[in-house]
Amino acid sequence: MRKIKIFDTTLRDGEQSPGASMNVEEKIQIARQLVRLGVDVIEAGFPIASPGDFDAVRRIAGEVQGAVIAGLARAKEEDIKRAWEAIKEAPKRRIHTFHSTSDIHLKYQFRVSREEALRRSVEMVKFAGSLVDDVEFSPMDATRTEVPYLLEVVEAVINAGASTVNIPDTVGYTTPDEFGSLIRTIKERIGNSAVISVHCHNDLGLAVANSLAAILNGAGQVECTINGIGERAGNCSMEEVVMNLVTRKDFYKARTGIRTKEIMKTSRLLTRITGIQVQPNKAVVGANAFAHESGIHQDGLLKEKMTYEIMRPEDVGLKRTELVLGKHSGRHAFRTRIKELGYELGHEEIEAAFEKFKRLADQKKDIFDEDIEALISEEVGKIPEVYGIVDISITAGTSVRPTAALKLNIRGKVVDSVEHGDGPVDAVYRAIAAVTKTKSTLQKFEVKSITGGTDALGEVLVSLEEGGKKARGQGADTDIIVAAAKAYVNALNKLAARKTR
Ligand code: KIV
Ligand code: ZN
Repeated sequence: MRKIKIFDTTLRDGEQSPGASMNVEEKIQIARQLVRLGVDVIEAGFPIASPGDFDAVRRIAGEVQGAVIAGLARAKEEDIKRAWEAIKEAPKRRIHTFHSTSDIHLKYQFRVSREEALRRSVEMVKFAGSLVDDVEFSPMDATRTEVPYLLEVVEAVINAGASTVNIPDTVGYTTPDEFGSLIRTIKERIGNSAVISVHCHNDLGLAVANSLAAILNGAGQVECTINGIGERAGNCSMEEVVMNLVTRKDFYKARTGIRTKEIMKTSRLLTRITGIQVQPNKAVVGANAFAHESGIHQDGLLKEKMTYEIMRPEDVGLKRTELVLGKHSGRHAFRTRIKELGYELGHEEIEAAFEKFKRLADQKKDIFDEDIEALISEEVGKIPEVYGIVDISITAGTSVRPTAALKLNIRGKVVDSVEHGDGPVDAVYRAIAAVTKTKSTLQKFEVKSITGGTDALGEVLVSLEEGGKKARGQGADTDIIVAAAKAYVNALNKLAARKTR
C-alpha cells in the first residue's frame, strides 16, 4: 500500500487558533508526543514571527528526535535565514517556504505581478536549498490560482530544488471533486519528481474530505493538526484522515506511519495544554464518538460488535487499561508505568509525580492511566513557582455562606486569607486574589472528570488575563475545589513567570 506522509502543523497553523498559544515547554511536550504518535514531519513554528516562536523551533530541533523538524518561512531571505538558524540542530530538517499565487492575493495584498511572484519563489527555493537538502514550497491560495499559472509555478520550484510541493486550500474554498482533479492534473504534469502535499482548511467543513480526495489522486503527504485545530475553522484533522485510511483501506489503498493507539492520548494532551475542548460529537476523538445510546444499536452491539462499530475504541487508544495502580504500588511500578505510557521524565519530575500519586492513592482506590497522565502533565513543563498552595479549607452548603480559608506560600513566605464568595470556587478565588494582590480576570473555567465514579480525579482548566497578558492553568484533584485552586495558582505562576522574563 502507498505510504502517505503525515505532516503535522499543530504547533504552527494549529497554534494560530484563537486562544491556542503554547509556551516552549508545552510545545516540546506536544512535539515529543507527536513523535510517539509516528508523524513524519513536525512543523514546529514560524521562526521569524517572534522570538518565542524562534526559540520553540530551536529547542524542538535540538531536543526532539524521530521526525523531520520543519520551520516555516515566507519567500524572503531574512525569513529563510531565520528558519535555518532555528532548525539547524535537527538531525532531519526542512525549510517550508511559501508565496501566494492567486491573482486575488497578488493584486490586492502583495501588489506584485505573476512573473515577480514566480521569480521570487524560484529564487527563494534555491536559497533555501543552499542551506538544507529538504525544501518544501507552498503556492499560497493555490485553489484560487489559475491552473496553468499554478502548474508553471509548481514545475519551476521543483526545477529549483523543492522536493515537496504543497497545494494549500488556504481559505477552505475547494470541493472534493474539484480538488481531486487539480491534484491529478499536477500529478500528471510532475510525475514522481516531487512529493505532492495538501494543506486544507475547514471553512466549509471539507478539509478532511478534500485531503482524502487528494490522496486518491496522487498526493503523498497530508498536512493536518491534532483535533483539527487551526486558523479560523481549523485544518484537516489528523485523527480523522488517518482513521479514514485505516478503516477504509480497501478503498483508499494507502497507509500512514501513525500508531493509532496514541491518538486519544495526543488529543487529550493538546486539550489539556491549550484548553480548547473537543466537541463531544467530533469524529474519532469526541467523548461520544464511541458511545452508543440507541436501544436498537445497543442490542446489535451486544450480539455482534460489527453491527454498529466500524472502528474499535481500543484502536485509537480509548480502552481503559486493566492494569491499575493502587496505594500499595511502589516507585518501581510507578516508574515502569510512566515509561510504558511513553513519558520520559527526569528524576525530580518522577519524584514529584510519585508524591502526588501516593496522595491520590490514599483518596482513590484504583488509579488508571488517565489519572497518571493528569498528574504527569502537572509536572512536565512546570515553570518556577512563585505561589504554592499550602492549605485550603472550605465551608459551603445550603445553609452557610461559602467561605474559603487559604494558606499560600509566596516566594517562601506563608500567608493566610479568609474570604466569602457566591460559591466555594468563588470564595477560594477571592482568597487567592486577595493574598497574591493580583488583578487578573477569569476568562474561562472548565471542569471535567478524568475517570468515572464519585472518587474520580477532577480536572479544572482556567484562562486568566492580566494587563493584556493571558495564561492558562490546569489542576487535578479528587476535590474539585482544590483542583480549581490549583488551576488558578498554576495560571498565576505562568503570568508571574512572564513578568520576570
Ligand atoms: O493555509 C495556508 O496556505 C498556509 C500556508 C503557509 C501553507 O498555512
Ligand atoms: Zn494553513
